[in-house]
Amino acid sequence: MRLLLTVVALAASHLSGFSAHANPFPGKGIGAPEQYPRRTIARVSVVDTPLVRAAQRFARDHGDDTVYNHVMRCWLLGTLMLQHNTTLQSIVDPEVHAVALLLHDLGFERTPNSTIVTLDHRFEVDGAIAARKFIRAHSQGRHWEERRVQLVWDAIALHGEHRFSFFKEPEVETVSKSVTLDFSGPDFGISEAEYAAVLEVFPQAENFKDSVVETMSWLCRTKPEMTYETFMQGYGDRFVEGYSAVGHRTVDQIIGL
Ligand SMILES: *[C@@H]1O[C@H](CO)[C@@H](O)[C@H](O)[C@H]1NC(C)=O
Ligand SMILES: *[C@@H]1O[C@H](CO)[C@@H](O)[C@H](O)[C@H]1NC(C)=O
Repeated sequence: MRLLLTVVALAASHLSGFSAHANPFPGKGIGAPEQYPRRTIARVSVVDTPLVRAAQRFARDHGDDTVYNHVMRCWLLGTLMLQHNTTLQSIVDPEVHAVALLLHDLGFERTPNSTIVTLDHRFEVDGAIAARKFIRAHSQGRHWEERRVQLVWDAIALHGEHRFSFFKEPEVETVSKSVTLDFSGPDFGISEAEYAAVLEVFPQAENFKDSVVETMSWLCRTKPEMTYETFMQGYGDRFVEGYSAVGHRTVDQIIGL
């Protein structure tokens, strides 16, 4: 019966997708399409699929310790946030949530000749494109519907733009909020003890804040046009000599009057 209802609901959502004013994503997440296997990391029960494991390896291979520990904390803390909220738990697909969080900072790869980082995309877009390629290459015969791929793309591309992400699909919203948890401390029902257990296994580097400043400054130096008028501009203004002289646009230039 439940399966039948799911099938009917899926069919209905397909049919209503492009009607005149219907929001194709009416505030409902896509939910978990199946019962996922789970494993425990840092006392957090997380989804355990081949794709999630591969995403974790990919994050390890393409991030230094600081970035890798950060994305792991975001995933685990974000999972706790979902577990403390029965609504979110029932509507957010935990595999989409996991893959997006594990891969959300691929655009920080600093190795020479990175195949991920470009000079003409924002770092979030580099990450989103790399994650999409990764999913298509690694879903190992198991079809990942395009909708889920798109949710991962959007969640990564918009993770720092809360004025968009907080109003999009629950997967996109919760990925953004999961990232903020690494900066805010315990929130969204997460206890001090749960938060501490995650930090114990994936500690924040002593110089975590400096490292964020350094990474943002690197982006402002290496691709300044991709940082103007974004939250990164603040780092450029404060920490990169000659940054603003290169090319902030004036208000007149922006609105074209
Ligand atoms: C659960 O999450 C939803 C969506 O973000 C939010 O509106 C609601 O207040 C949360 N519930 C609790 C108990 O935190
Ligand atoms: C990166 O690419 C440049 C130009 O193709 C090459 O000269 C250099 O050796 C490469 N560096 C590494 C670390 O692969």
